[in-house]
Amino acid sequence: MAEADSSGAEASAAASRRQARWSLRGMTALVTGGTRGIGHAVVEELAALGAAVHTCSRKEGELKECLEKWAGLGFHVTGSVCDLSVREQREALMREVASALDGKLNILINNVGTNIRKQTVEYSAEEYSFLMTTNLESAYHMCQLAHPLLKASGMGSIVFISSVAGVVALNSGTIYAATKGAINQLTKNLACEWAKDNIRTNSVSPWYIKTSLVEEIYLHCGTHGLTDLYRVLLLLRSICMCMCACIRTFLDSYAYYY
Ligand SMILES: NC(=O)c1ccc[n+]([C@@H]2O[C@H](COP(=O)([O-])OP(=O)(O)OC[C@H]3O[C@@H](n4cnc5c(N)ncnc54)[C@H](OP(=O)(O)O)[C@@H]3O)[C@@H](O)[C@H]2O)c1
Repeated sequence: MAEADSSGAEASAAASRRQARWSLRGMTALVTGGTRGIGHAVVEELAALGAAVHTCSRKEGELKECLEKWAGLGFHVTGSVCDLSVREQREALMREVASALDGKLNILINNVGTNIRKQTVEYSAEEYSFLMTTNLESAYHMCQLAHPLLKASGMGSIVFISSVAGVVALNSGTIYAATKGAINQLTKNLACEWAKDNIRTNSVSPWYIKTSLVEEIYLHCGTHGLTDLYRVLLLLRSICMCMCACIRTFLDSYAYYY
């Protein structure tokens, strides 16, 4: 019995050590575009881990609904109505963040991004500018604005929500792909440039996730709209097969000597 008690106590001590290791209590975060999709999930995850989170979106009603829901769950989340494609609104957002989070920001999640799916020759100059501003310029500027607060926190972290489309070629959406490719490069440059300020920079590249951004594809194309998925899976399978072949060649040559 005593043994069982001590192993129970050990298990609970291990659980609380694990909990402490994954806790974000005392940390602050800004998640752009947190009312729907990936940003919404990120806000909930960070808040559930104990962080104080600020988020933003363009639709006041949706933002209010989310904030009420989060308050009901006991999460510490504040929010601003802001169109991130407008420079002055980004500056105003950062002032609100500084005030809501007492001038301390540990985490910046650059999540806002959108897409217009067309063939390259069909894009207008306005669409080019809209996608570049929303996906790339806004994230770049948010990093510049957040830098003093991230640096002051002594332990800063930037995460860009990029896309597989920034790594491999898909059938449409060349402007979106270019913005995500640029985000991937920006991630590497900032990781080097701002490491001295104790700011880590990473990006996450999701494949299709069922959110409002891609619901049109699911609604109108069903699984046919995802034929690119199979192209990527084929690519991954080829890479795996090449790696297996290399390992086998290496092992065969190793076996030859011994
Ligand atoms: N879903 C996917 O399959 C997928 C795959 C790869 C990468 N991603 C990337 O993941 C990120 C999030 O995508 P998602 O699918 O979650 O998108 P989503 O469902 O469309 O949600 C976008 C969120 O951002 C807000 N937002 C959009 N434009 C904004 C602007 N100009 N200013 C302020 N807020 C804005 C939206 O609220 P309002 O509309 O009210 O402003 C909403 O809260 C994007 O960068 C996207 O490129 C998504």
